[in-house]
Amino acid sequence: MTFPLHRLRRLRKNGAIRRLISETTLNVDDFVAPLFVREGITEAQPITSLPGVFQHTRESLKREIDEITNLGIPGIILFGIPEKKDATGSEAWNPDGIVQQAIADCKSIAGDDLVIMSDLCVDEYTDHGHCGVVNDDGSIDNDLTLDLYKKIAVAQAHAGADVIAPSGMMDGQVAAIRNALDETAYVDIPILAYSAKYASGLYGPFREAVNVSLENSDRKSYQQDWRNKREAMNEIKADLDEGADMIMVKPAVTYLDIIAQARKITDVPIGAYHVSGEYSMIKAAGGKGWIDEKQVAIEQLTAVKRSGANFILTYFAKEIAECL
Ligand code: PBG
Repeated sequence: MTFPLHRLRRLRKNGAIRRLISETTLNVDDFVAPLFVREGITEAQPITSLPGVFQHTRESLKREIDEITNLGIPGIILFGIPEKKDATGSEAWNPDGIVQQAIADCKSIAGDDLVIMSDLCVDEYTDHGHCGVVNDDGSIDNDLTLDLYKKIAVAQAHAGADVIAPSGMMDGQVAAIRNALDETAYVDIPILAYSAKYASGLYGPFREAVNVSLENSDRKSYQQDWRNKREAMNEIKADLDEGADMIMVKPAVTYLDIIAQARKITDVPIGAYHVSGEYSMIKAAGGKGWIDEKQVAIEQLTAVKRSGANFILTYFAKEIAECL
């Protein structure tokens, strides 16, 4: 390639030609909006570390669903915050628990115009904040936890969830949930597996969002080590073998190489979670006037799509849908 013959700048001259040759286009269809619903509050509560995001009441959640469907956003993922938490997170499978009620509310408003995903985990529901049953020695009991996950899957499907999204990183969770759904005649409910989920520092603001403090422990015994990439492919393959219909990489921007590699090894839809810390960092720097918030958000979300993701779970869904 000789430089004078290949002047790539010729194709960047104006907006129209840049649009014409663009390889990736961010679209409202790419977005899933994460939403929080909290039991026992009478008004939506702002989440300080996630500006613009709220812990909703059932009523304010319904209004949010209207806005989201009006914007044409195709999906949401719901997280529940119960009033009382316990050692096993039993509110997670209570048929009248907050998230089950909220799923039913959303379904009754949006019907088939919106894909209602429900995050399946117990960390928002346990008093210790871990994603599973904690043994006396502090370790997590993988297989006992699977029994809880099965009950949650059935409760969420029964409430009307369109997609079940297990996020606890227990081994065998996809197979356990698939079996539980099939046995209860929910054979048509797909599973979006949080397959490659890293033990990331970027989940910080989410802890505030769901009222969880992990105190002196962390999740490194079940979430992935950020030094590893091949291990993520093993997680993805295992989930696909167990029956995952879609897989997820989380967080997104720090793990673009994982998304790109995942794209090479599977043709199922890949979701990427642009997580709370990724959102907050942009909001914080934007708030100080150090970066252009919207530009950086669009740049990052486009990068996630360019790397091979089919859809993006993002707290920017509404804001960016409005300006696309
Ligand atoms: C677990 C779960 C977490 C997030 C989504 N599902 C927390 C964690 O694993 O520590 C984090 C999402 C975010 O930071 O935006 N139920």
